[in-house]
Amino acid sequence: MGHPITVRVFPDLPAVSRAAAEEFVTLAREAIAQRGRFNVALSGGRTPKEMHRLLAGEFREQVDWSKVHLFFGDERYVDPSDPLSNYRMARETLLDLVPVPGGQVHPIPTAAADPVESARAYEATLQAQFGQGVPVFDLILLGMGPDGHTASLFPGTPAAAERDHLVMAVRANIEPPLRLTLTLPVLTAARRTLFLVTGADKRPVWEEIKADPAGAGSRYPAALVAVEAALAVWLVDQSLEG
Ligand code: 6PG
Repeated sequence: MGHPITVRVFPDLPAVSRAAAEEFVTLAREAIAQRGRFNVALSGGRTPKEMHRLLAGEFREQVDWSKVHLFFGDERYVDPSDPLSNYRMARETLLDLVPVPGGQVHPIPTAAADPVESARAYEATLQAQFGQGVPVFDLILLGMGPDGHTASLFPGTPAAAERDHLVMAVRANIEPPLRLTLTLPVLTAARRTLFLVTGADKRPVWEEIKADPAGAGSRYPAALVAVEAALAVWLVDQSLEG
């Protein structure tokens, strides 16, 4: 099954971040009106920070945060206070600055000695929140690495091909190596999948994805998510378009 991917090109990261914040507000309003809550999986890395700051600042009053439930697409297997933690990044740029009820923020656990135990615990969290089966998020935010990874699904790894478990522990070849990630079935089930991708270092892979999304899907997890997702929208900046 291959869906066409929708691409919106912006001049720079601030413009991408503003468009993403606007999408977040719109999708939150729709989900809350239709289902009484807005279930979002946040992305890690650097790119989402500016969008978070806009949501916590200029757009703060446009979201009914009491109805928002925040999850994570992946997490580095470090202490939540570690500078490399995606949870810490989200807490500093968003969670500490908006009135989301504490019980509605669902970090990926990273305390157990065995990361597989934490993966199963997060699966239990997802099923407690969404019921049995594959959770359908209203919005999953994703980035892409220069190697075409997304969340912590890296090219050629077992986790990238996993279609049964909802959450997997992975050993990546970038720092920090140990990570937990939502798997393809979850990342492709969302009502809306929003990729935020900026930076010339990602241009080579982006060119391949644009040229042949389905073909690129066999090489890059980011492309596979995009073509299998119900509705994937890419917000990219000019540095990717040359
Ligand atoms: C992570 C992210 C990862 C990220 C890409 C892009 O934990 O690092 O989930 O998938 O989205 O690596 O990262 P940047 O936004 O820092 O370029």
